[in-house]
Amino acid sequence: MPLVSFRDVEKTYRSLQGVDYHAVEHFSLDIEAGEFFCLLGPSGCGKTTVLRMLAGFEAPTAGEILMDGRPVTGASRDRAVVFQGDDSLYGWLTAIENVEFGLRMRRVPKAERRERAMRYLDLVGLTGQAQKYPAELSGGMKQRIQIARVLANEPTMLLMDEPFAALDAQTRALMQEELANIWQAERTTVLFITHDIDEAVTLGQRIGVMRAGPRSGVKGVVDVALNGARNRTDDTFLAYYRQVYAMIRDEVAAAIARTR
Ligand SMILES: Nc1ncnc2c1ncn2[C@@H]1O[C@H](COP(=O)(O)OP(=O)(O)O)[C@@H](O)[C@H]1O
Ligand SMILES: [Mg+2]
Repeated sequence: MPLVSFRDVEKTYRSLQGVDYHAVEHFSLDIEAGEFFCLLGPSGCGKTTVLRMLAGFEAPTAGEILMDGRPVTGASRDRAVVFQGDDSLYGWLTAIENVEFGLRMRRVPKAERRERAMRYLDLVGLTGQAQKYPAELSGGMKQRIQIARVLANEPTMLLMDEPFAALDAQTRALMQEELANIWQAERTTVLFITHDIDEAVTLGQRIGVMRAGPRSGVKGVVDVALNGARNRTDDTFLAYYRQVYAMIRDEVAAAIARTR
C-alpha cells in the first residue's frame, strides 16, 4: 500500500466575483513510504493547492486523499510543512529553542528535547549557531533551522513547498545537497514541490510533472535512476533534464499564454 494516495482529487476555488476556478481536476498520484517525490509544474498550475490539501489545510472539492489508507481530514504532526519563506521562526527564541519548540509543546522532558534538538541542528550543520537568534542568521541558516525544527518532531512525511526559492543560487545548491544528505540518513518520505527542473532532477527519486491549469493533473511521472551525489554535468543527469524539459515545455507555454 502506498503511504499517500490522491484519488481523482479536484479543487475548485470560488472567486470573490462568484466565478469558479477549477485549479486541479482528476489529480491522481501515489507516493511510497521512504521516497523523495518531486512535484514539478509551471507557476500557477496548482502545486501549492495539492500540498495544502495533503497537509490538511484545505479539503478537496471532490475525490479523496488517503494516508496509510485513511482519509486526510485535517492537519497532523505526521505531515510537517516547510514553506518558501524563512519567517516562521520565533524571533524571541534562539536557534536551539526554535528547534525544541514542538517538543516542548508535547512536554518532552528538558534533557531529552535538548539532546534531540542538538542532533537535528547538527544534521543541518548549525551546531555552532545554537545560541543565536533568527535576526543574527542568514536566510539559508534560518531555512535550515526550519528544517531542523520539523525534523525534530519526527514526522512521517515532509511536505516542502519551494523551500529554497528565496535563496541565492549558491546557498540553494548547498541546501539541496544538505537535504539530499539528510534524506539519505533519515529516509523520511518527502513531497518536494518546485517549478525548477534542475532542482527536481537533483533531488527526486521520482518526478511528477503537472499540466498547466486550469483543471491541472499529473501529466506523467519520471523515475530517476540516479543514486547518491548527483552531478549536473553528467550525461545521465542531462538526459533526465531533457526528458523532463520535453514534458514541461508546452505546459509552461500554456501557463504563460493563460495569464496574458
Ligand atoms: N484561495 C484561492 N482562491 C482562488 N484561487 C486560488 C486560491 N489559491 C490558488 N488559487 C488559484 O489556483 C491556481 C493554482 O494555484 P497554486 O496552487 O498556488 O499554484 P502553484 O503553487 O502551482 O503556483 C492559480 O490559478 C491560483 O490563482
Ligand atoms: Mg506555489
